[in-house]
Amino acid sequence: MMHVDRYERRWMIATGVTLAVFILALAVTAVIGGIELPGVSERIAPSTVSTSGPFANPGLRQLGPGRYELFIREQTWAFVPNEVHVPAGSSVTFHLTSPDVQHGFYVEGTNIHMMVLPGQVSSLTAAFPRPGTHQFWCDEYCGIAHQIMSGKIVVDPAR
Ligand code: CUA
Repeated sequence: MMHVDRYERRWMIATGVTLAVFILALAVTAVIGGIELPGVSERIAPSTVSTSGPFANPGLRQLGPGRYELFIREQTWAFVPNEVHVPAGSSVTFHLTSPDVQHGFYVEGTNIHMMVLPGQVSSLTAAFPRPGTHQFWCDEYCGIAHQIMSGKIVVDPAR
């Protein structure tokens, strides 16, 4: 058997234990914290984003009681739409894409954070249990007016 130095073996064990703890922490937060990795739900031709399909007329659509889907087009240098109202207690499935360059989507006060790339639709579902205002930002550098790209989700008191 290959000889492993005593100290080296200790570091190998420590590294293995650390990795195991991180993997466990990831599994626990995914289950308890509801961490969901944003996924690519669809491919889309960037040249058609603004003229056909749901991103030509983006916005909020109601799917059922308390369930919505929200299409947002991220383009240089604006969110369309840049203000959205949902009632408290809603579950919202976000679909975002870009007709031009890479953008980001970060919603403060939530764990919603996605990259938005031309050519694909990025989607995730999130719950908004309490009334309040969540500012959102583009957090991928996308050109000269990147810093003005923002908007907000207003969670209105449930009716
Ligand atoms: Cu869009 Cu930065």
